[in-house]
Amino acid sequence: MPDKPIDLGVQVGPIAMKNPVATASGCGGYGEELAEFYDLSRLGAVVTKSITLRPREGHPPPRLVEVRAGMLNAIGLANVGLERFLEEKLPALARFDVPVIVNVAGSTPDEYVEVCRTLDAAEGVAGIELNVSCPNVDRGGMEFGTEPAAVARLADAVRQEVTRAALIVKLSPNVTDIAETARAAADAGADALSLVNTLRGMAIDPWTGRPALTNRTGGLSGPAVKPVAVYMVRRVWEKVAGPRQLPVIGLGGIQFPEDVVEFLRAGATAVAVGTANFVDPETCVTLVDGLRDALARLGLASVRDLIGRMETE
Ligand SMILES: Cc1cc2nc3c(=O)[nH]c(=O)nc-3n(C[C@H](O)[C@H](O)[C@H](O)COP(=O)(O)O)c2cc1C
Repeated sequence: MPDKPIDLGVQVGPIAMKNPVATASGCGGYGEELAEFYDLSRLGAVVTKSITLRPREGHPPPRLVEVRAGMLNAIGLANVGLERFLEEKLPALARFDVPVIVNVAGSTPDEYVEVCRTLDAAEGVAGIELNVSCPNVDRGGMEFGTEPAAVARLADAVRQEVTRAALIVKLSPNVTDIAETARAAADAGADALSLVNTLRGMAIDPWTGRPALTNRTGGLSGPAVKPVAVYMVRRVWEKVAGPRQLPVIGLGGIQFPEDVVEFLRAGATAVAVGTANFVDPETCVTLVDGLRDALARLGLASVRDLIGRMETE
């Protein structure tokens, strides 16, 4: 008799994901960059790069630099702006059978609210991920994400407008206790939390003395941040998300199926993959297959049996 199929489905607020693997914001464009390599319908969800009300050029290059166990980036929220996103990018995703989560950034709370209101009314947007945690812009970004009161105000204002799509708040690791910003987002009525965004970092050329990035500082991502992210997912799950049954999307350094299992055990319901796409653009689909194998090896019939399951004895 064939083995019972393994159930990979998870629910992130109102979004039903066929498996727990999503792309991370900013690491596959608006989806089209990865669609060259595989059918996006194989993913649990597609998360777009940050969209702002008006188009942004971002920072001048160099804005990406490789470091020993990851990458530093200071893209500066380069994007086509809301209007072009709705005209060109979103319709191109409609041919895939995959929930689309649009990541949103802004310089003022009003800007966030306007973009979110418009996206909530747009066909084909399953979720809105609030980027309150970008370390690479002077105005907006992280300043909304490091103070619990600021997270609460912004999430609250956006929640009033987002009545159809899932509202996901993406948290910054650049804080003393991530449980506090997580609680603020949860209290404001977020449907899910995602964590972590990049950790603020810097690299200096030892011979020229120049910072490696034009912006001087950037966000660290990739394998180097994984243990930090796993810890923070666990912390948020224990203090906020677990007791309220609020789904967490875990990310930071995920590259191998074992990493996915680790994040789920820490308390994530789903995961997102960023930097690893630059190593191998097929990483996400490889992880879906690898996760199925890992569950078979663990003797589990459903991926949901893993969520939060850390042995503490
Ligand atoms: C090149 C690059 C661009 C990114 N752009 C965004 C972005 O536009 N919005 C956002 O919320 N996060 C952005 N991120 C952060 C990622 O979504 C993710 O939170 C972080 O990189 C950690 O995951 P990883 O280690 O798998 O890359 C970006 C990361 C990288 C490396």
